Amino acid sequence: MSVALILGATSDIGKAIARKFAENKYQVLLACRNTAALSTFVSDMNIRYGIPCHSYSFDATDFSSHEKFYNDLPLKPDVVICVFGYMNDNEATIASQVETLKTINTNYTGAVTILNIIAADFAGRKQGVIAGISSVAGERGRQSNYIYGSAKAGFTAYLSGLRNKLYKSNVHVLTILPGFVFTKMTEHLNLQKLLTATPENVADSVYNAVKKRKNIVYIKWFWKWIMFIIKSIPESIFKKKEL
Ligand SMILES: NC(=O)c1ccc[n+]([C@@H]2O[C@H](COP(=O)([O-])OP(=O)(O)OC[C@H]3O[C@@H](n4cnc5c(N)ncnc54)[C@H](OP(=O)(O)O)[C@@H]3O)[C@@H](O)[C@H]2O)c1
Repeated sequence: MSVALILGATSDIGKAIARKFAENKYQVLLACRNTAALSTFVSDMNIRYGIPCHSYSFDATDFSSHEKFYNDLPLKPDVVICVFGYMNDNEATIASQVETLKTINTNYTGAVTILNIIAADFAGRKQGVIAGISSVAGERGRQSNYIYGSAKAGFTAYLSGLRNKLYKSNVHVLTILPGFVFTKMTEHLNLQKLLTATPENVADSVYNAVKKRKNIVYIKWFWKWIMFIIKSIPESIFKKKEL
C-alpha cells in the first residue's frame, strides 16, 4: 500500500487531501502541531476508510526537530504534501517582527528545512512525489499581502529548483498554486464565490496532479490567466494601484 504524508494536517485543505488519498487506498500519515485536535478526525478516517491512519507531532518552525520527526516515522512515505502555512493581516505583520518572522519561517524556512530532509531520502530511494501548496500571492508582490506573498514566492522558487534537481533521481516535485480557498485562513475575508475554490477542489487537483506527475497546477484553472494579466502590467502602472 502506498503511503502519503500530510504536513499541516489540521488545516481544512490538509484534511480534504487526507480524505482524498485514503479514498484511493493510501495509508495516510498526518503531521501537525496539535495531535489532540485531530483525534476525532483520525478515528473518523480509520472507520470510514478502514485503512490505518495516525497523527504525528510536527512543528514547521521547530527546525531542529525536523530530522528526528522524519527519522521517527514508522514508515517512509511515497508522497508528501506540504500544506502548512500562515497568513496574518499585512499591516499587522509589518508592525511586528515576531509576526514577520512567523510568516517567513512558517511559509518558507520551515517548508524548506523539512523538505530538504525528505528530498534527500527520496533521492536515495530513487522514488517519490513531493507536492507543495504555495500560492498565487507569490507571483507578484502587492501592498496588501507582500510579506506572506514574498515567503510563498520563495517557496515556489524552491520547489522549482527542487524539481529540476530531483528529476534525474526519478523524484517528482509538484507546485500547487491556489487562488482563494474557503478555509479558516480566509474566513474573515469577503471572498467572491466564483473565484474561490473549496478544500475538496484543492484535494481533487492535488491527487490528480500527483497521479499525472504534473509540474505546476493552478486551482482553479482561470487563476493562471488572472495571474498572467497581473504579471503583465508594467511596474510603472502597477506601483500606483491599490492592490
Ligand atoms: N485559503 C486560501 O485562500 C489559500 C490560498 C492560497 C494558498 N493557501 C495555502 O494553503 C495551505 C493550507 O491553508 P488553509 O487555507 O487550509 O488554512 P488553515 O486551515 O488556516 O491551515 C493552516 C495550517 O497550517 C498549520 N500550521 C501553521 N503553523 C504551523 C507550524 N509552525 N507547524 C505546523 N503546522 C503549522 C496550521 O496548524 P494549526 O492547526 O496547529 O494552527 C494549519 O493546519 C497554506 O499553505 C496556505 O498558505 C491557502
